[in-house]
Amino acid sequence: MQQVATGLAVTGSGSAAPETSLDNDGLSQIVDTSDEWIASRTGIRSRHLSGPDESLAKLGAIAARNALSMAQVEATDIDLILLATSTPDDLFGSACQIQAELGAKHAVAFDLTAACSGFVFGMITAAQFIRTGVYRNVLLIGADVLSRWVDWTDRRSCVLFGDGAGAVVLQANENDRLLGFALQSDGCLHDCLNVQYQGKPRPLTDNITVSQGTYQPVSMNGKEVYRFAVNRVPEVVEKALFQADLTTNDIDWLLLHQANQRILDAVAKRLKVPAEKVISNIANYGNTSAATIPLALDETVRQGHIKPGDTIAASGFGAGLSWGAVVFQWQR
Ligand code: ACO
Repeated sequence: MQQVATGLAVTGSGSAAPETSLDNDGLSQIVDTSDEWIASRTGIRSRHLSGPDESLAKLGAIAARNALSMAQVEATDIDLILLATSTPDDLFGSACQIQAELGAKHAVAFDLTAACSGFVFGMITAAQFIRTGVYRNVLLIGADVLSRWVDWTDRRSCVLFGDGAGAVVLQANENDRLLGFALQSDGCLHDCLNVQYQGKPRPLTDNITVSQGTYQPVSMNGKEVYRFAVNRVPEVVEKALFQADLTTNDIDWLLLHQANQRILDAVAKRLKVPAEKVISNIANYGNTSAATIPLALDETVRQGHIKPGDTIAASGFGAGLSWGAVVFQWQR
């Protein structure tokens, strides 16, 4: 009887960003801010923004094609497409549009919502399908267009976000390259960061009233989120490393959700990871939510810095609140 490979490996990555970008000087024409304030408080210099004719599904599909090409996997060989996003084109989900766009006709496709933790949560979800032997080839995309939901009059939050997409291909492999993980949620802290539905009463009959409305712009308590990230992210990375029977000395790269350079620096300091091992591209993209981790991974791989066999500790954190970490080896 043929043995089913129930380990997994990350075999390819891809990314995409809208062509249009807005630097801090441009942003200071819109709200009362400056390049000096934004760069010194966040490390962000510029962000990419989607226009009215661009879609999340198209952006995600470009990242996906690049990942498939690196992994040398045909779209028709994909069994599952997972789209981690909080900003779908369609509230019913955008993963199926990406499936159609790619021609991945054998794949089942669905969205997964866990804000900026979405990519890490998606990777662990994908791993369950592979480890149980159900699927062999999974395409995981992290994509967000938060520019649609940011309050462009609120200088405390609009300076932070940008649009982008990243993707990886996960494949069944004889040796399991996913070494450890830890995921956490705390809904009691939901008020710190959300894009909340708000409706108005809409009477239907004399005694039945429903609600109709739309989502409100991003609402964020920056200080609370900062405190949460700096305290909880090192813990969850340590947990995932412990599960992998590794310490921070064993990792080649620390790949954190790109929310703020000061958060990256503070977390790395607590974990005693030297700056040269900390991946950062926040200066050029800002916070692209579920896309930051695969986007930064892909750039670093394509620059030739991440080598096959390198050990990466990645951590996502954000709305929910939710946070998680995964330790994996690149390719092989
Ligand atoms: N330009 C100029 N001044 C500003 C700006 C701005 N863009 N934003 C705020 N200020 C002012 C404030 O009005 C305040 O002035 P005041 O003292 O006169 O009232 C002063 O700067 C300090 O404001 P703080 O809010 O205290 O600034 P802080 O040092 O906390 O930095 C920041 C704010 C950058 C948002 C920080 O709290 C942070 O990064 N938090 C984490 C946010 C985050 O990562 N969110 C997303 C994570 S999850 C996800 O990805 C969805």
